[in-house]
Amino acid sequence: MSTLEIRDLHVAITTQSGESEEILSGVNLTVAAGQTHAIMGPNGSGKSTLAYSIAGHPKYQVTRGSVTLDGRDVLAMSVDARARAGLFLAMQYPVEVPGVTVSNFLRTAVTAVRGEAPKLRSFIKEMNGAMAELAIDPAFAQRNLNEGFSGGEKKRHEILQLQMLNPKIAILDETDSGLDIDALKIVSEGVNRYREGADHGVLLITHYTRILRYVSPDFVHVFVGGKIVAEGGPELADELEASGYERFTALSDAGALSDAGAPA
Ligand SMILES: Nc1ncnc2c1ncn2[C@@H]1O[C@H](COP(=O)(O)OP(=O)(O)OP(=O)(O)O)[C@@H](O)[C@H]1O
Ligand SMILES: [Mg+2]
Repeated sequence: MSTLEIRDLHVAITTQSGESEEILSGVNLTVAAGQTHAIMGPNGSGKSTLAYSIAGHPKYQVTRGSVTLDGRDVLAMSVDARARAGLFLAMQYPVEVPGVTVSNFLRTAVTAVRGEAPKLRSFIKEMNGAMAELAIDPAFAQRNLNEGFSGGEKKRHEILQLQMLNPKIAILDETDSGLDIDALKIVSEGVNRYREGADHGVLLITHYTRILRYVSPDFVHVFVGGKIVAEGGPELADELEASGYERFTALSDAGALSDAGAPA
């Protein structure tokens, strides 16, 4: 069973004035296959920075700590090696890729991750099936990736990629944001289909308990000031919705939790 382990992760960015600024200050988190972890926290607390750092975005410098997948050093891997190892990131703001169709993008990505090109006919069948499950119009296969897509269409295509790439650990950064009620159900069903697969773990970053009613988390982590300051079960999300982050802001000055993987 796959396990993503994040230990004492510190991450900095270089500001426009050229100074180094710490964004993550000691994140500890363990996501094992079969588990769904939700991360909730105020704007600017570093949630996307955590997601990008795991995926290998070059802007984020890891200054301390470790990230391993089944004991293998993720931080030593290139971005594409991380994807081949079984990590996947659905981005908060999916990028537009002019000149590359959805179909071409998916076939290239699937080929890279699986290590061999799928037969064209079986690939198209697989892609059409996945698109139908996500209620995506088949015409999208020939459109340029994310170019001119609505916010909700972009998010749905992130789940299409998840379904096609079938990673071990999926990080979903606000994949529920901007979805209408029907789209939220469709996307949640996609995540749940993925969760049913063997050896799959989910790290779901969200601001809303709405998605957590469809995709029930095993653990909820409160992320404030670049680290996890509290954790619990699904009831913690309801508490956050009722009372906000005020109670937890003070905790962020007190220090990070030592191991966010274990239930309190
Ligand atoms: N490349 C960058 N250059 C400058 N500042 C950055 C950069 N990336 C992140 N930051 C800063 O780091 C902090 C954390 O940003 P991040 O996007 O990780 O927050 P977040 O928790 O995902 O917020 P949100 O809930 O709004 O998505 C913010 O103050 C942000 O401005
Ligand atoms: Mg974010």
